[in-house]
Amino acid sequence: MSSNLFRTKSVEQSIEDTQEPEHALNRSLSALDLTVFGVGVIIGTGIFVLTGKIAKETAGPSVALAFVVAGVVCALAGLCYAEFASTVPVAGSAYTFSYASLGEFPAWIIGWDLVLELALGCAVVAVGWSGYIRSLLDNAGWHLPQELSGTHDGTFGFDLLAAVLVLVLTGILVAGVKFSSRVTSLVVAVKVTVVLLVIVVGAFLVTGANYDPFIPPAESVEGGGGITAPLVQLMFGYNPASFGVMGIFTGAAVVFFAFIGFDIVATAAEETRNPQRDVPRGILGSLLICTTLYVLVSIVVTGMQKYDKLSVDAPLADAFKATGHPFWSGLISFGAAVGLTSVCMILLLGQTRVFFAMSRDGLLPRTFSHVHPTFKTPYRSTVLLGVIVAALAGFTSIDELAELVNIGTLFAFVVVAVGVVILRRRRPDLHRAFRTPLVPLVPIASVLASLWLMLNLPAETWVRFGVWMVIGVVVYFLYGRGHSRLGLREKAGRG
Ligand code: ALA
Repeated sequence: MSSNLFRTKSVEQSIEDTQEPEHALNRSLSALDLTVFGVGVIIGTGIFVLTGKIAKETAGPSVALAFVVAGVVCALAGLCYAEFASTVPVAGSAYTFSYASLGEFPAWIIGWDLVLELALGCAVVAVGWSGYIRSLLDNAGWHLPQELSGTHDGTFGFDLLAAVLVLVLTGILVAGVKFSSRVTSLVVAVKVTVVLLVIVVGAFLVTGANYDPFIPPAESVEGGGGITAPLVQLMFGYNPASFGVMGIFTGAAVVFFAFIGFDIVATAAEETRNPQRDVPRGILGSLLICTTLYVLVSIVVTGMQKYDKLSVDAPLADAFKATGHPFWSGLISFGAAVGLTSVCMILLLGQTRVFFAMSRDGLLPRTFSHVHPTFKTPYRSTVLLGVIVAALAGFTSIDELAELVNIGTLFAFVVVAVGVVILRRRRPDLHRAFRTPLVPLVPIASVLASLWLMLNLPAETWVRFGVWMVIGVVVYFLYGRGHSRLGLREKAGRG
């Protein structure tokens, strides 16, 4: 049985199954292309929304340090991810290359986990987008009723705009509309310009006193925090607290969301002209640029407004409103909304493709991988997931969602780092377009760093994540294992 669980799909088979006429990817990308692509995918709700929330509730102005911590964790993971992605010459996500290297069960676990990461990630970005649109509407004097503006401070509200955005994007994906690279570059340019505007214009509106204290003293959480306290605080019996030095790590575990997407850069290894040199440059370059922008934005924003006054919906734009600059605020909201649309779309597309691949392999019902006769898109999985994500975006609060996305992504980083070491031992023969430096030191450091951030997430996030993974294991044993096309082929071969 154990060998069954670890049956692998051969690399040749993986390629055949993608049914793509051209298997050889064009090696045309340079380090610069990868960096631009990375920055385009990475900057989103993390910086535009979570900065305000974490500064206000967890870290104060030291949210800037939280970004540095999260950036380092991602850099370590990025180096492992790049080797994993470039070892198996199949374009695709961690699901595809785990299937061809680690085996069916680990691949299922990673795939199930990726669906969570990408689907909920999309919901988080949609909620962030809705906050900026509401800020824009406010500027124009229109106010959406609280009941349709999402959940805030425990008061329930359905986030209508976020749900509508996800449904519209789902429709676009079903119709198979592809944005040209020109449109994508334009959106990236708008997004980066907005971030730079915040830094440059905002720098003139900073009041030094707002930085005092830079690391606010630790405050005990009422009632000990219970299941909402970070697991590490409960495990080691600290008195659960916000702010203080521990607040920087708690904050890092949440703002980690701002870096999600750089793993997509790693998957482009096979399309890179000189992967050994350019992939680390692309990954580390985009991480360095994003970390620098994030640190500068958070320093400026917490300098413009006292951290406890920051808005949690659209903090960057609202800080300009609060300092009496509605014009800049409107411009920033507009740019943020444009930029967030593309991030939301990329995440939504990513998760429908992972779901599609799992269904094509027979691990999920094959009906979901039917391609639409006219549009040539996997419309069933796209619509199913689109509707679920829209409902989640409407009903759930942004921090709960983001924490769940982060734990899922960090878990994937742990599996990938362990996978790099296992594969070096098990399959030293495989060609590796990119090799992680200092194996096993870098993978070990990556595992420890990711685990540390995971431990800084609330205990309730662990429970939710555990429930999701248990459901995954049950689905695999009740359905996937028996319907796996690989398993069926093996059986046919024996019979
Ligand atoms: N990193 C992306 C964001 O912050 C997912 O929205």
